[in-house]
Amino acid sequence: MPISIRDLHPEFVGEVEGCDLRRPLSREETRRLEEGIHRSAVLVFHDQDIDDLQQVAFTTGFGPLENQRGVDVTPVEDLRLKTPVSDVSNLGQDNKPLPRDHRIRMFNLGNRLWHTDYSYRAIQAKYSILSGRVVVTEGGNTEFADMRAAYDALDAGTRAEIEDLICEHSLMYSRSKLGLTEFTPEEQVTFKPVRHRLVRTHPATGRKSLFLAAHIGTIVGWPVPEARALLQDLIEHATQPQFVHVHRWRPHDLIMWDNQRTMHRVRRFDETRVRDLRHTAVSGDAPTAPQAA
Ligand code: OGA
Ligand code: MN
Repeated sequence: MPISIRDLHPEFVGEVEGCDLRRPLSREETRRLEEGIHRSAVLVFHDQDIDDLQQVAFTTGFGPLENQRGVDVTPVEDLRLKTPVSDVSNLGQDNKPLPRDHRIRMFNLGNRLWHTDYSYRAIQAKYSILSGRVVVTEGGNTEFADMRAAYDALDAGTRAEIEDLICEHSLMYSRSKLGLTEFTPEEQVTFKPVRHRLVRTHPATGRKSLFLAAHIGTIVGWPVPEARALLQDLIEHATQPQFVHVHRWRPHDLIMWDNQRTMHRVRRFDETRVRDLRHTAVSGDAPTAPQAA
C-alpha cells in the first residue's frame, strides 16, 4: 500500500497510512514522508509495534542520528536503556516509576513546559521521533504548537521588532523555571547557553516561524526581565488553541515532528502508572545564529 497522509490539522498535522516501520523504508517512501513533514510539521503513525533498533533504523533514513548524551542529567551507569534511544519514561532501572523527588524525574518534568527539542545545542536536531511503547489512558497527552502559523498571525509592528533578535538557550534556563538551579560543574559545561534567532527561516520551505522554547533565558543585549516578559507574551500568543494540536496516545503510536517549526509539551498524568516512550532524533544541518566568541 502506498503511503498516504490525511490532514488532522491542515498544514500542521498529518496522519500517515500505508507504512510499516518494522521494515526498512524505500528511498521513495522516505522522500514522501519528508515531503509530508515539510507540509505538515507533525506526522502521526498508528500501530507501529517497533523495538529500539527499528526506531533507530527509521530515524537514520532521514539523516544522522542525534547524539542522546547530555540531553538530561542521567549518569551513564543509571541509564535504564542500553540502546541508542533516549528514555522518555517515568521509570528507573528497576522499571518502576521513579520516586517523586528523584533528580532525574524532577529534571524530566521540564517536558511539561512548552519547548522545542535540542535548541540548547548550537545546531538543533531537526526531526524528533517519539514511540509510545506503554502509554497512559488518562492525561499524558502531547501537545504541539504551530510556530509558523503563530508567526504569520503576528502584527507587522511585532514582526519588525523581533526580526533580528538573538536568544540564549540552555537546559539550565528551562530547569531553573521549575526551581532546579543546582548543576554539577560538568553539567554546567554540557548545558552552556547557545544562541539562536528568534525568527527563523525554514531551510526547506523558506517560510518564517517563531523560534521559542522554555530553554530560552534571555535575548542578547536586552535586560533579562524585559526579555522574559516579551518571550512570555510570544509563548502565550503562539500556544493559543487555534495553533495547538492535542495528541492522545494509543499504544504503539509514533510521532515524528519538525523541531524547526513547532513547540510541544506533555501534560500531567498519574505518575504511579507506567508511561514508557522512546525518543530519537535526526541531526540538523546548520546553526541559526553565530555563537558568542
Ligand atoms: C520529547 C518530549 C513529551 C512526551 O520526547 O521530546 O518532549 O509526551 N516528550 O513525553
Ligand atoms: Mn521534547
